[in-house]
Amino acid sequence: MTIAGFPEDFVWGVSTSAFQIEGATSADGRSPSIWDTFTANRAEACDHYHRYPEDVRLMKELGMAAYRFSVSWTRVFPDDSGKVNQAGLDFYDRLVDELTGAGITPYATLYHWDLPQWAEDAGGWPARDTACRFADYAAAVHERLGDRVGTWFTLNEPWVAAFLGYGSGVHAPGRASAPDAFRAAHHMLLAHGLGVRALRDAGAAEVGAVLNISPVMTPAQVSDFGRTLSEEDAEAVARIDALVNRQFLEPMLRGAYPAELLEIAERHGGLGHVRDGDLDVIAQPLDLLGVNYYTPLVVQAQPSEPAGAAFPGSEGILFCTIPTAVTAMGWPIVPNCLALLLDRLSGEYPDLDLMITENGADFVDVVTGDGIHDVDRISFVEEHLRALRGAVEKGAKVRGYLVWTLLDNLEWADGYQRKFGLVHVDFATQKRRLKDSALWYRDVISRNGLTEARPRRPTLETVAARAGVSRATVSRVVNGESSVSSEVRATVMRAVREIGYVPNAAARSLVTRRTNAVALVLSVPRQGGDALTASVVQYVTSLLEGAGKQITLMLADTAESHRRIVAHVEGRLADGVVLLPPDRGDTLAERLSRTEVPVVLLGKPPIASMVPYVDVDNAGGAAAATDHLVSLGRRRIGMICGPMDLVTVQDRLAGHRTALRRAGLRPHLAAADDLTRAAGAAATHRLLGDRPSLDAVFAATDQLAIGALTAAREAGRRVPEDLAVVGFDDVDAASATTPALTTVRVPVADQSLALARLLLSRLEGRHTTSVVLPARLVVRESA
Ligand code: FCB
Repeated sequence: MTIAGFPEDFVWGVSTSAFQIEGATSADGRSPSIWDTFTANRAEACDHYHRYPEDVRLMKELGMAAYRFSVSWTRVFPDDSGKVNQAGLDFYDRLVDELTGAGITPYATLYHWDLPQWAEDAGGWPARDTACRFADYAAAVHERLGDRVGTWFTLNEPWVAAFLGYGSGVHAPGRASAPDAFRAAHHMLLAHGLGVRALRDAGAAEVGAVLNISPVMTPAQVSDFGRTLSEEDAEAVARIDALVNRQFLEPMLRGAYPAELLEIAERHGGLGHVRDGDLDVIAQPLDLLGVNYYTPLVVQAQPSEPAGAAFPGSEGILFCTIPTAVTAMGWPIVPNCLALLLDRLSGEYPDLDLMITENGADFVDVVTGDGIHDVDRISFVEEHLRALRGAVEKGAKVRGYLVWTLLDNLEWADGYQRKFGLVHVDFATQKRRLKDSALWYRDVISRNGLTEARPRRPTLETVAARAGVSRATVSRVVNGESSVSSEVRATVMRAVREIGYVPNAAARSLVTRRTNAVALVLSVPRQGGDALTASVVQYVTSLLEGAGKQITLMLADTAESHRRIVAHVEGRLADGVVLLPPDRGDTLAERLSRTEVPVVLLGKPPIASMVPYVDVDNAGGAAAATDHLVSLGRRRIGMICGPMDLVTVQDRLAGHRTALRRAGLRPHLAAADDLTRAAGAAATHRLLGDRPSLDAVFAATDQLAIGALTAAREAGRRVPEDLAVVGFDDVDAASATTPALTTVRVPVADQSLALARLLLSRLEGRHTTSVVLPARLVVRESA
C-alpha cells in the first residue's frame, strides 16, 4: 500500500470550544456568558465538564497528538470585580493534567465567542474596556496553566464574533448594528494585541490567533481559479476579501487596515474608536496562525443588490450559490480552496507558521445496529487532507491539522441538530460512540498519511468479495433474512464493518426506521419546457446526495405511475419527496401530502395547500420585462402566453397585465399550445397578422421567444428596431440567438438549493414556509 505521507513531525488532533461541549454552566461559580443568555435550555451540552476523563481517553485511543480547547472566561472571572475564581480554573487545571498524562499536547484558545454577560452589559466588544479586561483574563489563565500549556491562541474567528454577533445578530449577543460590528472587530483585534503582550510578559512559549479565512471568488472561478475577472467582479471579490479576511490578517500581521476597509468602516459609524498606537499594539509578532477553513465565499458584482447585514459595505455584491455538493449545513464542499488559501498565505506571509485549527463537516448521521458509517464525513476530511498535503509539498509551512470536532455538540444558534463530531453523542444518555470517521482518522494518524487510493463508497460487491460469498448472500444478511447460517452471517458482518459498507435502505430502516432515501418525482415534462427541470434535477440530486441522502428518481407520467409513487411513499420507502414540477392540476401532490411523509414542491401548486414550495417571482419578473419594454418607448406590446393551465404561465401573464395597466396600455395576447419554438413562431405570426403595428413581444418562455425571433425575421421585421423581443428563463440558448435575447433570469441553482434545504429542514421536523426567489431582467440586444 502506498502512503501519501505528511512531514514527520506533523501534528494531528481535534478542536473543541468551551460553550459547545462543557455544560455545567453554573458549576463552581461560573456565571452566564452571552451565549447562555442567547440560547435558553442548552445548559448540558456534552457534559464534558464532568466527562472530560472519558473524552481524553477517547482521544488517546484515537492517537491524537494535540487537543485545542477553549477556556470559558466566565469560569475565571464570573463578575466584573477583577477577582479570579480559582474554582473555575481548577477545571482546566484537571483537564490539562489529564491531557498531558495521556501524552496529548494542549492548545488553549482564550476566546471562543463566550463573552461574560457582565462584560456585554458594560458595553460588550463595541466598548474599548472589554479589550483591557481580556488582557487581564489572558494573564490570569496563563498564570495557572502556563507551566503546562505551551501554545496559546488569543481569539477564535473574530469576524464571526463581530459581524454575526453585532452585525447581523444571528449570533450572541444578537445586536444588529454595522457601527457596533466594526467597533467590535477593532476591539477584538486590540484585545488580541494586548493579550499577546500579556502572555509574552508572563513567559508564554508560543502565541497565535485563529482566523476563519475564506477564499473569495466568483462562481466561474470555483472550477477555474485562474480565470480573469471583469473589473466589477474583481472589485466585488476584493471588497469581500477585505471585509472577511484582510480586516484581521493585515492589522495583526502588517500593522495596518486595508484602505478599502477603512473607507467602509468610515461610512458605518466612523473611525473614532481607532486610536493612535492601536495598530502597533495589534501587530505583535506571532509564532503561529491558526486557520479555520470550511467553505469559500462565492460572489459576483450585481448593481442593484443591497448589502447583507453581516457584510456592511457589500452593496452591489451578490452572494451566489454554486451547484457543488454541500454539507448538511448547506456549505459547498470545495477542498481545493484549502490549498488555494494556504498558497496565498504562504505567498503573502512567507515566515509565518500555520496550523489548520478547524476543518470538518456536518452530515446527517445514521446510527445503525453495527455502527455509524459516516462515509461522507470521511470523504470530506480525506479530500481536504489531500489538498493540504499538496500545499505542504509546495512549501506551505503547515504544522498540523485539527478536525472540527471531537464530539457532536451544541452548534451555536443551530443547536444540537448539527453533527460535526468524529464521536456521536446521544444527548439523552451522554453515551459516546465512535463513528467510522473516528476510526478512519485514527488510521490516518497512525500511518501519518493517506492511502494512495481514494476511499470509494463500498458496495455490496465489495463486501461480497471481502467475505468470499455471493452478492445475494450479502444482501440476505444485511436485510436480516434468517436463511443464512450464523457463521456466514458473522463473516459478512465482519466484512461490512471492516470496509464501512452502508447497508441499503431496507436494512437501515430495520434499525432506524429511517431509509435515508428521498424520492425525486418528475411530472411529465412539457414539450419545450424541460430545460429548467433537467438542471434542477441535476442540482437537487447532487445537493441531497451531498447531504447523505440516496435519491430514487420516479416518473409520474400515468395514473398507474401515480399509484406506484403513492404506494412507495406510503410504504415508507422514502423519508421525503421532492416533486417537480406539479403542473397540470393533478392531485399527486395532495395525495402525497396525506401520507405524512414530508413533501416539497418545485413551483407553486395550482391549488393552494399546506405543502411548501419553492418558486421564482414569475409575476414580478414578467412585470420587470414589461416595464423594460415600456421604458424603451414601446406601446403596442404583444404577449405569447403558452398553455394557460400552467401556473407559471398564469403568473407571468398576471405580472405582464399589471405592468401594462400601470403604463395605461392594453394587452394583446396570443396563446401557444405548448412551449416549443414552433408554437412561439406560430403565435407571433398570428399576433403580427392581427396587429401589424405591434412593436414588441414578450414571450412567457425563452423557447417561445426564440420562435418569435424566427417569425419576426420571416415577416421581414428587424429586431429590435421594428420589434423588440423579450423572453423568460434565460436558458443557455438565450445568449446565443441573433440578436441575443433579453430575458428574465431564473436562479436555477438557488431554486435547487432552496428545495434541498426545505426538504432537509422538513426531515428534521422543523417548521418550513414556501420560498419565492427574485427573478432578474437580463438586458441583451433583442430589447
Ligand atoms: C467555526 C467555529 C466552531 C464551529 C464550526 C462549525 O466557525 O469556530 O465553533 O461552530 O465553525
